[in-house]
Amino acid sequence: MDNKGNRDQFTSGFGFVLASAGSAIGLGNIWRFPYMTGTNGGGAFVLLYLAIVLLVGATLLLVEFTIGRHGQANAVESYGKISKPFKWIGYLGVFISFPLLAYYAVVGGWTIYYSMQSALGKLTSVPADQMGAFFGGFIGLVTSPIIYLAIFLIFTLLIVARGVSGGIEKWSKILMPAMFVLLVILLVRSVTLPGAMEGVKWYLKPDFSKINGSVVVAALGQAFFSLSVGLSGMVTYGSYLSKKENLTTNTLTVVGFDTLIAILAGFVVFPAVFAFSMEPGGGPGLVFITLPQVFSKMPMGAFFSASFFLLLLFAALTSSISIMEVSISYFTESFNVSRRQMSWIYGIIVFVLAIPVSLSFGIWGDVSIFGKGIFDLYDYFCANLALPFCAFMCAILVGWVWGKDKAMAELTNNGTIDNWYIRIWFPLVKYVSPLVVGLILLNAIGVLKF
Ligand code: PHE
Repeated sequence: MDNKGNRDQFTSGFGFVLASAGSAIGLGNIWRFPYMTGTNGGGAFVLLYLAIVLLVGATLLLVEFTIGRHGQANAVESYGKISKPFKWIGYLGVFISFPLLAYYAVVGGWTIYYSMQSALGKLTSVPADQMGAFFGGFIGLVTSPIIYLAIFLIFTLLIVARGVSGGIEKWSKILMPAMFVLLVILLVRSVTLPGAMEGVKWYLKPDFSKINGSVVVAALGQAFFSLSVGLSGMVTYGSYLSKKENLTTNTLTVVGFDTLIAILAGFVVFPAVFAFSMEPGGGPGLVFITLPQVFSKMPMGAFFSASFFLLLLFAALTSSISIMEVSISYFTESFNVSRRQMSWIYGIIVFVLAIPVSLSFGIWGDVSIFGKGIFDLYDYFCANLALPFCAFMCAILVGWVWGKDKAMAELTNNGTIDNWYIRIWFPLVKYVSPLVVGLILLNAIGVLKF
């Protein structure tokens, strides 16, 4: 706890919203959401996802912020201030952050490669029907994707090493809106491609026969992954927030933007998938194959493509730093180690963990553990099991251990603020979230089948 006296803080509530939205909005929205929707049947998955976000996603995001703001310390200590035995949720968050960042960085590396290839004009000159082969050829290589993932990790750790209130707040203010504008331009191009309407229909029309247990598990995993819930990263960010800010409005803003960006990404991807006669269930490569096809059909395609992948890289970085910050804040506040040293040590460990993930798209493509490839294993463990499990325990902690009076006092700044969401929040925490998340988790581990 030796660095505690000079803990960094966000300079304003606005800075906090930006950083939290930065954490939430990332590859999860633009890369993961479309391919999850694609492999889980389309419109019905989207509806399920929205329902989960509204019912439990927002609730548990606010739970994390509340715990952190109350604790004003790293995740482990923040849990400890409410109940000592619950500290382990924080340790678990630190543990999960390693594999989570490992596979996140692999995809982050792909975005760096794609920005460069776009800027060189190479990407948009690949014929549409060979875009899949171009992508598969790159990720299947041994060294090149590993070098790019290393670069992504170095960017991440250099930012984290400088502390929370450094350049991130300033840059987010410019780059996040730019990203949004580009997404809208892309959307217009995509939905006006010949044959695009089929994709829009597929995306919007729910086919409920597609819903089964594993689709529900995937929707829950996607909601938590996208909102950054369950890692305790948002506990950590909440701890950098001053006691004056209104937690509920900040939470709803983050949830609103995060959801909007994901839905928009679907409107870019699926019309293009159908216009170019591709399969929506194409998996992790979906965005990297469809988007360049859309760009190649636009005037100044190379320029738009390079800008887009750069912005995506930026969005990924504002997320990856939050994954890393959970652990760095814990280690630096608990042991006598500097932020800089710790960031490098952490980065190197994650790099080692990321190598098998990268190789699983090429020479280690046949390796299967518990019936899953290495990439799927990391992803399934983090998003579908670990994040929901920790979020579930947070709900138990706040709903059943901390109790209504204390939780509400923190949430309402000691009774000085009130709104409709505050009034429904506690029952959602105490009853609805444990029930919904608990049932889905039991299904994910195979105890219950629906
Ligand atoms: N929410 C981030 C994204 O959508 C990923 C993330 C998950 C970040 C969990 C922090 C914690 O890209």
